[in-house]
Amino acid sequence: MIVFSGRSSEKLGVKVAEKLRVGFGKTKINVFPDGEIYMRVLSDVSGEECVVVQSTPTNEDLIELLLLLDLLSDLGAQKIHTVIPYMGYSRQDKRFSEGEALSAKTILKIIDSMSDSIYSVNMHFFDHGGVYDYQGISINNIDAFPTLACHFKEKLKKPVVIAPDKGSLECAKKAAEIIGCDFDFLKKKRISGEEVVIEAKHVDIHGRDAVILDDMISTGGTVIEAAKILRKHGARTINVGCVHGLFSKGIDKVKKEVDELVCTDSLDKEISRVSLAPLIAEAIKKEP
Ligand code: R5P
Repeated sequence: MIVFSGRSSEKLGVKVAEKLRVGFGKTKINVFPDGEIYMRVLSDVSGEECVVVQSTPTNEDLIELLLLLDLLSDLGAQKIHTVIPYMGYSRQDKRFSEGEALSAKTILKIIDSMSDSIYSVNMHFFDHGGVYDYQGISINNIDAFPTLACHFKEKLKKPVVIAPDKGSLECAKKAAEIIGCDFDFLKKKRISGEEVVIEAKHVDIHGRDAVILDDMISTGGTVIEAAKILRKHGARTINVGCVHGLFSKGIDKVKKEVDELVCTDSLDKEISRVSLAPLIAEAIKKEP
């Protein structure tokens, strides 16, 4: 077995290879002056089972993944397991208005045609870990919330887990079990792509260490509003963990509102202190 990655997940790919105790494949990836990507695989993959780890927050990352998958197949890889820790376009999994592209399906259909199996981590439209069928495509969704919860377990004196919206309540419940505390949720109303209004539920948070867990932080609007509400209710500290730290408006504006901010290495950020490598390696080991 050989693990490969594109440039968006190189550090994570190396860690996955270490956990699996297999080699990390050599590639040469460049960008031509006109923006096109040049891809070359330098390792011998003929007859090998290959694991490709590549998050796709940008269109360029996606093209890099597709070039790599097709190339490995051309070079005679025996099997290709595609791991997309963070998959872009996963928020458009439904047609919210008539005539819209089903972007998640389009992207997954192409990836599926080049892969023997597909893995992702807390994909936006799945509620739990496990194998899902989405539009006829099988996806193994790895759940990183327990690992994030463990990160906070020993650190906080009087923890309470807060889901920033009702949709994340199940995850908050599981995290609270792991940390050994109670949980609650806030009511969120999305005004636009960048603006959310959070209304407080009755949360008895006074003097406690709030742990806000979310699948992703994009603009930061949701956690910033949640943090403000919880402070107003007397929280002692605000601790935030997310699986996918996109931070499309920068990390600093979120950092200054909270006491601790951590994300996984699905995207390589300065606060990626929780690695997905053990979870991904465990999942791959279970491949038949
Ligand atoms: C929403 O359903 C998600 O769980 C996140 O809360 C949301 O995507 C975060 O976005 P933002 O950081 O832009 O508020």
